[in-house]
Amino acid sequence: MATRINPSILAADFANLERELGRIGTADLVHVDIMDNHFVPNLTFGLPMVQRLQQVSPVPLDVHLMIDDPDRWAPGYAEAGAASVTFHAEAVNEPVALARHLRQIGARAGIALKPGTDAAPYLDLLPEFDQVLIMTVEPGFGGQSFISETMPKLRRVADAVEAAGLDVWLQVDGGITVDTIGIAAEAGADTFVAGSAVFRGVPEERITELRAAVASH
Ligand code: DX5
Ligand code: ZN
Repeated sequence: MATRINPSILAADFANLERELGRIGTADLVHVDIMDNHFVPNLTFGLPMVQRLQQVSPVPLDVHLMIDDPDRWAPGYAEAGAASVTFHAEAVNEPVALARHLRQIGARAGIALKPGTDAAPYLDLLPEFDQVLIMTVEPGFGGQSFISETMPKLRRVADAVEAAGLDVWLQVDGGITVDTIGIAAEAGADTFVAGSAVFRGVPEERITELRAAVASH
């Protein structure tokens, strides 16, 4: 099974983002956290920043929208050239219509679930998506501790993906370190977002350590 490591630039040096992107050349995608201070109690940046990152990043962009009304805003990120655009189940009005729109523009479509959100209502929609993001912390901040109670939900989604014979990437985000990544891999994740674990150190070394921790689990 593929192991994808997507460093989150939330933990990078915002004054030197182009340089930071150059330090994660061995990453699969770069995770870009968009927060609006409504859906989550924190604010980061929006579309103009992503348009500029897209121009300079050697690594494709994996955009995570922690915002209200993604039906309105998400297509702009796909049009900017993001490889994937993930919106939250709790915020979206028309998940299927939005996923189809994102795919039509050429992005991978993703749906994210907060730790307390049940996956059951979304399992029938899996064919409409390229990736599912199981949040392993409450969205809003980096540097939080992994919530292992989310693992049964990840396993249920992984089983549903397998039973349906789909190629849907299963992503985890929040508190992923060399100590927790194996637990998530065991439960079926193949795509791992890591902010502090990558940027608090030499990023390419940290990425290698995370990959090794999955392989040895
Ligand atoms: C949290 C964000 C995460 C965050 C992860 O709301 O969605 O992507 O950057 O940070 P760490 O890896 O430090 O938990
Ligand atoms: Zn994220």
